[in-house]
Amino acid sequence: MARQKFICGNWKMHKTVAEATALVKELADGLAGDARVQVAVAPTFTALAAVGAAVRGTPLELAAQDVHWEVQGAFTGEVSAPMLADVGVRHGIVGHSERRQLFGETDETVRRKVGALLAAGIRPIVCVGELLAEREAGRTLEVVSRQVRGGLAGLSPDVLMAVTVAYEPVWAIGTGKTATTAQAQEVHASIRALLRELGGAPAADAVRIQYGGSVKPENAAELLSQPDVDGALVGGASLKAKDFLAIVKGALR
Ligand code: PGA
Repeated sequence: MARQKFICGNWKMHKTVAEATALVKELADGLAGDARVQVAVAPTFTALAAVGAAVRGTPLELAAQDVHWEVQGAFTGEVSAPMLADVGVRHGIVGHSERRQLFGETDETVRRKVGALLAAGIRPIVCVGELLAEREAGRTLEVVSRQVRGGLAGLSPDVLMAVTVAYEPVWAIGTGKTATTAQAQEVHASIRALLRELGGAPAADAVRIQYGGSVKPENAAELLSQPDVDGALVGGASLKAKDFLAIVKGALR
């Protein structure tokens, strides 16, 4: 079964509302709207509503960078899944390595956030990936499988299908170092095997597994040509329309 490729730009803590809407305009103008690839962008919380309005009627979809697991309440500084859905968010990134390393995200909070997103009709993008020391110690598959099991625990097979997994080796994020296609494919194939164990073959066949970590126009097409690489989560290179559009093109080759 051919899975639709899925490219998502993660803008991290960049861009004012004016800058974000200008970038979205450029992206929308440059996108052909090819059914073989789904394209989303994840602005900061402050730009979500404006970007949500700007993507309406274009092939671009709106994603959030994080979410809180409760629906509402006394959680100063947090934003809930229904609030994200309210401004047009369709996808929600959870468990990004920056959240795990800098803000105390755990597999357990990832699991709760995944549940909250799904309950609000938002499709989670669950990030997993090993540190350099873990790769060097030969622990990559063990770490990634713990994160996948922890983040997706308790999901039924038909719910699992709505999830995207993003494999992002921490040593490749924002460093200019990319995993080789062989390294990426090896981990992606092992995630797919684990998904089969967790949700059966139909779920494993349906789930998109994105690669993230210094994806650029120069390496995107080769990474995306791997059988289990179904898309990309793009940080730095998603901040420039030309580069991001070139990466989307790479998914069509
Ligand atoms: P990068 O970030 O493309 O800048 O390496 C990827 C990510 O953090 O999702």
